[in-house]
This record gives sequence, C-alpha cells and structure tokens, in this order.
Amino acid sequence: MENKSERWCVMSFTRIEDILDGRCEGKHISVRGWVYRKRESKDIVFFIIRDATGIVQCTVRKDSSAWADAKRVTIESSVTLSGTVKKDERAPGGFEVPVDQLKIVGLAETFPITKDQSEEFRRNVRHLWLRSRRMNTIMKVRSETLRFVHEFFRKKSFIEVSPPMFISSACEGGATLFGLKYFDKDLYLTQSAQLHLEALIQSLEKVYCVAPSFRAEKSRTIRHLAEYWHVEAEEAFSTMDDLMCLEEDLVSHVCQNVAKQCRKELKALEVDAGKLAKVKAPFNRITYDEAVEKLRKKNFKIKWGEDFGFNEEKALAEELGPLFVYAYPKKIKAFYCKTYRENPEMVMSVDLIVPNIGELSTGGAREDDKKELLKRLEEFGLRQEDYEWYIDLRKYGTVPHTGFGLGVERLLAWILDLENIIDTIPFPRTTRRFYP
Ligand code: 4AD
Ligand code: MG
Repeated sequence: MENKSERWCVMSFTRIEDILDGRCEGKHISVRGWVYRKRESKDIVFFIIRDATGIVQCTVRKDSSAWADAKRVTIESSVTLSGTVKKDERAPGGFEVPVDQLKIVGLAETFPITKDQSEEFRRNVRHLWLRSRRMNTIMKVRSETLRFVHEFFRKKSFIEVSPPMFISSACEGGATLFGLKYFDKDLYLTQSAQLHLEALIQSLEKVYCVAPSFRAEKSRTIRHLAEYWHVEAEEAFSTMDDLMCLEEDLVSHVCQNVAKQCRKELKALEVDAGKLAKVKAPFNRITYDEAVEKLRKKNFKIKWGEDFGFNEEKALAEELGPLFVYAYPKKIKAFYCKTYRENPEMVMSVDLIVPNIGELSTGGAREDDKKELLKRLEEFGLRQEDYEWYIDLRKYGTVPHTGFGLGVERLLAWILDLENIIDTIPFPRTTRRFYP
C-alpha cells in the first residue's frame, strides 16, 4: 500500500493541501485547478488558485514567460502551473507559488457569480456556486458523514441493502406521494424503504440502506425537500429500547467523528466542534403524554392527540437536547405502527428530536401480528390487495422488529448549524427548484 506522503511525491500534480501542509517548501511543483481570485498591479499578477483540496496564492512577474497568459486569464479559467514553493506569511495559508510556467486549459467567459449577489441568485446558479469554498466544504462534510454512517452500521454487523425506487403501494400516506407512469401502469416514487427492509430482515436480520426518498411536500419550509437521502435500518427480534439505543449510538458516532475528523472544515464553516463532540448517548427519553404536559407548561395550546409541529419540537429540544419522544396516539402515526397491547390507542413509535431542526428521525416497532395489521389497514382505508406481499411477511415466520428512518440533510443541517437544509445537498429539489 502506498501511503500519503509517497503518493504526492510520484504524482505529477501536487494537491494544494500538500503545499499548505508545508511539505513542498523549496520544491518545484505543478498544480492544476481554477482561478479563484485575480489581482494585478503594474509588474505582478496575483492569483488564488483552487483545487478540490484548498486554495493557494500564485504570482506571475512581468519578466516571466507566463506574463502574457497571466494577463489574459480570467476568473474560473482552468489552468496548470509550475513554480517553486516558498513560505510567505502574507499569503492565505502561509505559502506562495511564484509561477514560471502557466498553461490555460479552458479560458472562462465572464463568470456570473460575484461577491455581492443574493443567496437566491446563487441558488439559481447552483451548478456554478458548487465551486465556492463554502459548498466545497459542506460537500466534504457530507461525504464524511455518510462514511461514518456506513462505518457505524458495518461495525454493528448490519448488512447494506439496495431498495427499489419504483413502488406500488405507499409507506407514508397518500398526501406526499409522487405518482408516475411506469410503462402502462401507475406507480409511485418511494417515500421510504421501510416496507422492503422489513422483507429483507427475514433473511438478513439486520439491514440498512442509504437511498433517496421522494416526498411531494407542498409546504415550503427550511427542513423539507422533495428528494432527500434517507438512512434507514430495520432489525429482527428487537425492542423499542434496542431501537433507541441504536439510534443514539449512530448519531453520537457521527457527531463525535465529524468533530474529530473534520476539524478543518468545521473551522472554515465556523461550527463549534466542541459542542458537537458533546453529543453523546444516552439521550433523554419522554413519552408523548409527558411531552404534551411539558409543552402546556411552556404555554403551548396543544390538545392531547395532536401532532407536534416545528415550534413544539424546537421547544422540547431546547430544554432537553437531542431527545426521544415515544408512545404516540395511533391516529397521528402510520398504519404499520404496532399498538401497545395494554393500551391499543397508543403506538410504539418514536421520534428523535434535536435543537434547531426538530424531527431528525422517526422509527418504531412494526405491527407483526397478521390480524392486527389487517385491522390497521382497514382503519386507514388501505386496500389489502395493495399490501399482499407485506402481509405475507406476517404469515411466514413473523418476528417482533423495529426500525427507523433518518434524513441525511436534516442531520447535516443540524451538525453544521445551517439555516436551511437546501445547502446540504448539491442539487436540491423543492416545489420551486428542479434546475439545474
Ligand atoms: O418520519 P418519516 O416520514 O418516517 C418514515 O418514512 C419511516 N418509514 C422511516 C422508517 O421507519 N424506516 O421520515 C423519516 C425521516 C424524517 O424524520 C426526516 O428526517 C426525513 O426522513 N424526512 C425528510 N427530510 C427532508 N425532506 C423531507 N421532505 C423529509 N421527509 C422526511
Ligand atoms: Mg416522522
């Protein structure tokens, strides 16, 4: 196996992060990237060049053979250049490359994004705004977050599975279903892999996936997308307690590791890594009934049996930090939720709620008894024939089981303290945004 320091030596192009590390001082190197900033005076052109890993200052002097191209090159042109790295305290990152060779790979037309444009404008040219330091950094944390999610489940012996995107029966209710023509049939885009994961646990016991989910969300909020990435897990022979432990362990694992391994990125985004490192299992757990009582004490006018909105969730999390609320009235949860046998008006459903974002995940125990499930389908006005395969899972070797789904974008918005989840995904899809 080659290690990092061997790799950069043999590469013909040096990555900017390796220059900023100090390991290239005095060495003649080549860099490739894009012109991020440019400033000229009579005898010198200053560039900031960016690549995937960082930005570095480069200079071209009038007496250099690169002078003509340096004058000509525009913001966001792609270039390759060479020079001998020197230390310079005044340069961002503390190093500078005085350029002796410059090649323009793709000369850019006038770049439409400048410093003073609105958030709205940047979102309209997302395909270009992705080049910003901010988006570059958020995408790196997103990649690391997903890595930690996979790492966690593998460590816990969960098998990764790949659910379908085209589905024939709803998981989360008709209001947010996207319909589509599938040859000559009417199908939907998946809202959740849960039902299919339930089939898979009867073979693999512990499964998870990270996959897109689609919601025809008409509401324009800071926490809803029409297409989002969904971490979902399902476990055979498990209890509500197992489920909450699994979820809090996952969230702690991700937060701890992002705090530790994304220091540079967190600093650039002005996120407090110390606060993130303090997110540790166990989380508080309260019942729906207790939550209602707490909210009333905070002057919320909530009737028993009503679902919580964003404001209620925020108020609970402000007091209790990340917390689980469990045991909900069955009327406000989905058809598949298992009822408490001693109190069948309540279901074994649990939401994980976090400060600023509110609901981060929903999970629970699934109705595993065939007769009860048939009753629930009827109560919800759902047709048995649409769920035949799902009912089969209760006919052949049913087991108590639990699972959950957690939105990747909400997790990231929370970790990075972002105002809107729209910035956690490269090409957001909302009621208004589907371009580029
Ligand atoms: O609460 P939801 O609808 O629950 C389910 O879909 C379950 N079937 C999951 C399961 O048990 N396997 O969605 C789960 C999570 C939410 O808590 C939220 O984090 C995220 O998915 N989510 C959204 N994220 C962004 N935009 C949307 N429109 C979202 N809808 C749900
Ligand atoms: Mg939910």
